[in-house]
Amino acid sequence: MCGIVGYVGSREAAPIIVEGLKRLEYRGYDSAGLAVQRGGRIVTLKKVGKVSHLESALPAGAITGSVGMGHTRWATHGEPSEVNAHPHLDCSGSIAVIHNGVIENYSSLKKKLIAGGHQFLSETDTEVLSHLIEELHKAGGGLEQAVRKALHQVKGTYGIVVMSSHEPRKLIVARKGSPLVIGFGEGEYLIASDPSALIRHTRKVTYMEDGEYAVISAEGISTKTLDDVTIQKSVEELSFELDQIERGGFEHFMLKEIHEQPETIRNALRGRLQVEEGEVKLGGLEQMREKLISARRIILLGCGTSWHAGLVGEYMLEQIAGIPTEVEYASEFRYRSPVIQQGDVVIAISQSGETADTLAALREAKAKGATVLGIVNVVGSTIARETQGGVYIHAGPEIGVASTKAFTSQLTVLALVTLMVARAKGLLHVDYKLLMKELDALPEKVGKVLDGAARIREIAGELKNARNFLYLGRGANFPVALEGALKLKEISYIHAEGYPAAEMKHGPIALIDEHMPVVCIVPKDAIYEKVMSNVQEVKARRGRILAVANEDDDDIGHLAEFVIRVPRTFGFFGPILNVIPLQLLAYYIAVARGTNVDQPRNLAKSVTVE
Ligand code: G6P
Repeated sequence: MCGIVGYVGSREAAPIIVEGLKRLEYRGYDSAGLAVQRGGRIVTLKKVGKVSHLESALPAGAITGSVGMGHTRWATHGEPSEVNAHPHLDCSGSIAVIHNGVIENYSSLKKKLIAGGHQFLSETDTEVLSHLIEELHKAGGGLEQAVRKALHQVKGTYGIVVMSSHEPRKLIVARKGSPLVIGFGEGEYLIASDPSALIRHTRKVTYMEDGEYAVISAEGISTKTLDDVTIQKSVEELSFELDQIERGGFEHFMLKEIHEQPETIRNALRGRLQVEEGEVKLGGLEQMREKLISARRIILLGCGTSWHAGLVGEYMLEQIAGIPTEVEYASEFRYRSPVIQQGDVVIAISQSGETADTLAALREAKAKGATVLGIVNVVGSTIARETQGGVYIHAGPEIGVASTKAFTSQLTVLALVTLMVARAKGLLHVDYKLLMKELDALPEKVGKVLDGAARIREIAGELKNARNFLYLGRGANFPVALEGALKLKEISYIHAEGYPAAEMKHGPIALIDEHMPVVCIVPKDAIYEKVMSNVQEVKARRGRILAVANEDDDDIGHLAEFVIRVPRTFGFFGPILNVIPLQLLAYYIAVARGTNVDQPRNLAKSVTVE
């Protein structure tokens, strides 16, 4: 999620690092920092906000040196601030670390280090690494041994770069779960979390693999496994262009983000869904847990896609956790003098955490005495700060204006909250562990849906000239129909409506003829037969049926012109799988019509005006 750049050579490091960080800014942009070796000590500079803030703060000529590293941050642990920005130093200021990923056991390591006299400045998990390396360095054996030993002690994911004024001509890099690439220049090496940051300087690269580390100096590079076995790395030639790699080889950010969903859903679950222990742990709700469990009523607030997530949440929270739940457009809620009573819990759902209406509605609810919580993507955003507790969805920066990965992560977090509350209230009638395992299996199942992208592209080719679309679903899949229609409208500019499948009879059925594509979401759940009757009604009017159905549904093929298969899951997890084909359908139709997919006309990613 964050970006890393490192440099070892004979040129000035700072400008190369800043330029590389700018290329990585799409990954995170809440703070940036750099560290350079200068005259036997490490000089650092950190700034909140965009890399340009760091750049303009660079004192001319003051941060000179030809070994250095930089980082652009997308906050996970600790709000965006200078203190929490990377690099993080040890107590003596002679070891600096930048890190992408999450150190899962940081809190136990931190306790031990504090007990041993280490002083921490930030709230980050990363700072633990600097102090741990410092501690292990005291035993002798040099920086390399200290880093290796430290990495044996940490759990979680990392791509790191370490430097030390004890050994000022080298950088040590290591990878587990967070990408790192090393570029080979003329008498110089560049390190980055993404090749886009180094392609201006070299096309010759080697990719670090999990469990490997490398010691890099201007004279050469040695790569080993964490068990100290030397490895020969092969050098590859980068064959793509800059803007292509920023999008990870995908044609658009939206497509990249759709394909990131197995990983982003996993990130939303990580450390929270503890299947073995049979527990859901939501640290950000700990203080408000009792209020939530005993809530008289929950009100979910949001706009756009986040409002759709709320609608699915309503089904989850009422059916599984037994709490009366209402979902409101934030823009409507704030102006209708809502009645807030004791025991009301308001949850704002927002990707950006900055949407003006959601923020204003939240403030209104807070002023009227509600407990206010947030389900937010951007760490440290205004909504995240103004709520009394909440859960970050950890989906990473979402750049495509049409929200995709944030939606499935919002649903994942709503499922976690529902399970936690239902368990605490003793309401679950199904085996809790089985539900947890099913939730845990979702990233893989999303991957299976994505494997069918080529077929969806073909279907998009068949339907791209339609002037209207109807999307139908029932139960928790009704909001999925709304979301599918919204995606199509947003990026292809085709008029589309989402409807509860049975409600279609009260109006939209009049629109159906042989030109009208009708997207029907028909999972084999408790209301399967009911939805199938609605599909029959569409068929009888010669509508062009595109069904999203389960793999083992043998009947739908007789009714539908096109069938997209998704794996089976528990009913209220279904929306997380069923929305994926609809995202892809909208995407491929938009591409076929030649619209600007990532920046559709008239829309904005974050709507900070009323
Ligand atoms: C805009 C975006 C949508 C988003 C909505 C709410 O309309 O284009 O994708 O769903 O705002 O944004 P939020 O950041 O609060 O989720």
